[in-house]
Amino acid sequence: MPSASLTASPATDPPEAAVLPQFAARLVQWQRVHGRHGLPWQGRSAYHVWLSEIMLQQTQVAVVTGYYTRFVERFPTVQALAAAPQDAVLAAWSGLGYYQRARNLQRCAQLVVQRYGGEFPRTARELAELPGIGPSTAAAIAAFCFAERAAILDGNVQRVLCRSHGISDPLPDAAATRKLRALAQALLPAASDIAAYTQGLMDLGATVCRPRQPLCAQCPFAADCRARNGGDPQRLPQRKPKTAARQRRHTVMLWLRNRADGTLWLERRPPQGIWPGLWSLPEFAGRPQALAFAARLGAVVAQRELPAFAHAFTHFDLTAQPLQIDVEPATTAAEPAGQWIAPQAAAALALPAPVRALLLRHAAPD
Ligand code: ADE
Repeated sequence: MPSASLTASPATDPPEAAVLPQFAARLVQWQRVHGRHGLPWQGRSAYHVWLSEIMLQQTQVAVVTGYYTRFVERFPTVQALAAAPQDAVLAAWSGLGYYQRARNLQRCAQLVVQRYGGEFPRTARELAELPGIGPSTAAAIAAFCFAERAAILDGNVQRVLCRSHGISDPLPDAAATRKLRALAQALLPAASDIAAYTQGLMDLGATVCRPRQPLCAQCPFAADCRARNGGDPQRLPQRKPKTAARQRRHTVMLWLRNRADGTLWLERRPPQGIWPGLWSLPEFAGRPQALAFAARLGAVVAQRELPAFAHAFTHFDLTAQPLQIDVEPATTAAEPAGQWIAPQAAAALALPAPVRALLLRHAAPD
C-alpha cells in the first residue's frame, strides 16, 4: 500500500501557521486503521460518490446510508435520475430536507447527461461549475474518484485544521478563511494517498475531533495539537458572535379530515419558498382563517388542537400549531387548489419530514 508523502507539498500561498510535521502521513495511517471503510458509496462511480456527497452536505452518515441505498435502487444511473419525473426525485429525497438540493441534484444529472454524455467531469474546477456542487464537494469528488490533489474544507475540516494548527481568527472571517485555504492546500499528500487522506479528514472531524467533547486520546495529532496544548481544544474554532437573533415564524397547519371517506386534504406547495413543490397541509396565519377555509369545503363537525411543534430552517425557526378539523364535505363546494387524498396514498407522496411525522404521530383513529 503506498504511504503518504512524508513532507508537506509546496503551497501556492504559504500558510501562516507552521504545518504540523507528517500531518498527511499520520492522517492516512490513522484512516487506514481507524477510519470508516465499507460505506456503500466508497470505491464506486462518480455518480455514486457525487450523490453521497450531496446527501452528506446536511446529514450524518448514519442517516444518509438508508436514503442513499433506496435512492440508487430507484435511480441506478445518472441517466435514470436525469430522465425521472421531478416528483419521483422529491419523493425519494423526502425526509432529507433542503429540497432545493434535490432539484439541483436533478438539474446537475441532466447537465452531466447533456453536456458530458453521462460521464462526470474529472476535475474539481469543472465539477464546481455544476449546480449544487460547491468547491469542497467538488474537491471531495475529484479526490475520491479521480485522485486529484484537491483540498476539501467543509465545517468539520475547518474545525480539525483550526484546532490542530491553532488558528484562532474567528470564522467565517476572511482572515481565517484565507489561512485555512492555504493550510489545507499545503497539507495535501501525493495523489496516490489523496482518497485516504480526504476520507481521514472527514472521519477525524466526525468521530474524534467533534464539536463538543472531542476524543483527544484517540487523535493522531493529540501530542502536538495546538488547541489541546493550549488546554481547551473546544475553544477553537472561534466563531463570530451572531449579530441578529434568528427569525421566528408561526403558522397554523390545518389537518382537514373528510368524515365521509377518511381522506385528508393536501395541497401542493408553490415552487418557491419553504418545502418547494412538496405536498403538505394548508397553512394559515391564524385559527379563524383555517376555520373559514374548512367551512368552504364542508360542514365542520369536530375540531381539536394538536401539540405545536418547532422546525428549524436555515434562516428561521418555524413554530407550527396543528389544527385537526373533521368536515362532512359539501358536494357543491368550490374547491381551492388541493385534493382529498387517502392516507396510504398520502404516505407515498413527497411530504415535508415534520408533516409526515405529525401525521404518523396522530394517525390513530379517535
Ligand atoms: N461527510 C461528507 N462526505 C463524507 C464521506 N465521504 N464520508 C463520511 N462522511 C462524509
